[in-house]
Amino acid sequence: MATILITGCSSGFGKLAALQFARKGDTVYASMRNTSKGKELEEARDSEDLKIELLQLDVTDDASVSAAVAKVIAEAGRIDVLVNNAGIGAHGPIEETDDDEAKEIFETNFFGALRTIRTVLPHMREKKAGTIVNVSSLAGRVGPPFDGIYAASKFALEAASEALYYETHPFGIRVLLIEPGGFETNIGDTRRIPRRFGEGSPYAELDQRFEQALTKLPTGGERGDARVVAEAIYDAVHDKEPKLRYLVGEDAKMIGGLRQQLDDEQFEQAIRQALDFWD
Ligand SMILES: NC(=O)c1ccc[n+]([C@@H]2O[C@H](COP(=O)([O-])OP(=O)(O)OC[C@H]3O[C@@H](n4cnc5c(N)ncnc54)[C@H](OP(=O)(O)O)[C@@H]3O)[C@@H](O)[C@H]2O)c1
Repeated sequence: MATILITGCSSGFGKLAALQFARKGDTVYASMRNTSKGKELEEARDSEDLKIELLQLDVTDDASVSAAVAKVIAEAGRIDVLVNNAGIGAHGPIEETDDDEAKEIFETNFFGALRTIRTVLPHMREKKAGTIVNVSSLAGRVGPPFDGIYAASKFALEAASEALYYETHPFGIRVLLIEPGGFETNIGDTRRIPRRFGEGSPYAELDQRFEQALTKLPTGGERGDARVVAEAIYDAVHDKEPKLRYLVGEDAKMIGGLRQQLDDEQFEQAIRQALDFWD
């Protein structure tokens, strides 16, 4: 059975992925910024006799990442799978997002994942084996209006992951991207809104119109059950025909699929037809 390190396990996909791997018999180091948020995982561990260890890890903090990885290596001797899941949402127009606000998103979603990857990779190279799962998004393939900075952080993660895929393959290490559409987690409640984006914003009405337009999608703009993503992460790690990218969810498969097949003009036409959000 494998040793799995997952970031951002206090809620959402991270918590559910920890349970998914542990219920299959793996040893899971479920890391989070604040381990007092790990009560549900501890309860599941005790009642179901799972191998789950809580671990303090803040992806924006070098010392925290180093200490967490060192602890796993000292105890388990290896990390077979690293799941870079920790992330924060952001919603607002590009023009009204200041640099410090954009940098905060990149610090977690992009540099946080890089920091963890850099710390784990030497151990995986030594073993000539390992899998790195980077939780990206449908917004790592398309730049939705008002999610531009969030999408930019995920595009950056996608580019680095693609390069890393080729760089680490010769060392027996696999890199893959999970690209979920909209799923029910805490991310909507904790997403960052730019200070300057308020009711008086010239973008406020357009933002509402776009939110409304999303209900015209076949999913009705509804968010899916987050367990689907936890299962998709597990299945992707064990895929017999390994791929780099995995779109997860009906909305992601539809929009991401169109993005892949169509050129820019055709894609714009398709989206404008489906959402009809401009005058
Ligand atoms: N839900 C969706 O629809 C969706 C779609 C596409 C992609 N995603 C991606 O999925 C991943 C998980 O998000 P989620 O939807 O499960 O949201 P979530 O419930 O808000 O979970 C996010 C997790 O990341 C953690 N986190 C944030 N900053 C951190 C840091 N500096 N160090 C360590 N952990 C940190 C949070 O911990 P705290 O409790 O300490 O804040 C939390 O555990 C993210 O990368 C997100 O971008 C989500």
